[in-house]
Amino acid sequence: MDNINGKRAVNFLRGVPADEALQKLVPMASRGYENSITHYGTEVLQYGHFNGFKPLRDLLGTMHHVDPERIIAGNGGMEVISMLFKSFPRKCNIIVEEMTYDRVIHDAQRYGHNLIGVELTPTGLNIDQLKDVIDKTSVFAFYGIPFHQNPTGIDYSPENREAVEKICKDNGVLCIWDICYEPLRYDGNQNEPITVSEWGPILVSSFTKTISPGTKCGYMVLPQKNIGQMTNIVANTRLNPNLPTQGFIVDFIQSGEYAAYLNYLCNLYKPRMDALNDALNENFPGAFPADIHGGFFSCIQLKPIASDKEEMFLTTAKNAGVGIAAAWDAVAPNLREEKRKKGLLVRLTFPAFVTTDIKWGITKLKHVEEELL
Ligand SMILES: Cc1ncc(COP(=O)(O)O)c(C=O)c1O
Repeated sequence: MDNINGKRAVNFLRGVPADEALQKLVPMASRGYENSITHYGTEVLQYGHFNGFKPLRDLLGTMHHVDPERIIAGNGGMEVISMLFKSFPRKCNIIVEEMTYDRVIHDAQRYGHNLIGVELTPTGLNIDQLKDVIDKTSVFAFYGIPFHQNPTGIDYSPENREAVEKICKDNGVLCIWDICYEPLRYDGNQNEPITVSEWGPILVSSFTKTISPGTKCGYMVLPQKNIGQMTNIVANTRLNPNLPTQGFIVDFIQSGEYAAYLNYLCNLYKPRMDALNDALNENFPGAFPADIHGGFFSCIQLKPIASDKEEMFLTTAKNAGVGIAAAWDAVAPNLREEKRKKGLLVRLTFPAFVTTDIKWGITKLKHVEEELL
């Protein structure tokens, strides 16, 4: 629980790993970084390995059943996504989900790209709409988050995901899946890994939520034919990535500690996810797409809170101890105006909070909504 001036408070904006998880990581990371530097020596302290530390690329290649040459490991998921966008022809059309990771929208726009939102359903993308956009527009790429989507928490069904891939492939559209939440499923099941073929899909991922944001490591899996061009962009953007971190991650995975840590995270976050699902079902039925099964986020759209009440609602919630914000930045630009007519959209995160605070915060939010009606 956060405590603002001695008053109970919870901040649903902070999409960060739990503090206790990072505390648990401290001795493992200390040992792992030491092992990385003593084992690999000057190799991780010198320039080199532009496309990522070779032992890490080898491990990731094995994990995804691809030639390690097709892996580029960098300093976080956002860095590799940004380098991808940088490699596209300027001002191209990119399809995204109607709501997506807000920084992806900002970053793509920085390169002049035009983002086109396609509706999400509780089991993935609206396939008819996807086809329609691709039929009518010249689309260069599609970017989606198929597991525990940010910000809706939606999971694509395997059938939906495969249908998206087929449409992209048949129409020469690059299909990019951001799989950074794939290992973070808390309901006791495992997500079915995505099969990568010669053509794609392109995968991007990150160890930010599965290890730590501070260590900053992410990677992409590309078709072989794109590696040369991407290597030039990498070399002209950041030279080599943080090599001691990549050495640590190799050590962490090979020692078996990573698998055990993921298991610990899933057990830690499960009751928190259950608390959020329960609290939302109790207080805001019908205001969120579906119960979530993992990841970091869910989101609600509050029909009664129209644009003119938005500021008042957010301020009243803040004064009552609940930190939230409007999630308009996460909505595809072409759909923002329409979406705004349906009431305030709020992204909620939960892994960093204990169950009692999650329930308290959501109930409080309901009281604030009732007060304003
Ligand atoms: C879908 C998605 N992709 C990428 C990232 C960014 O990862 P990184 O911190 O490794 O840049 C995030 C972080 O929240 C995310 O939600």
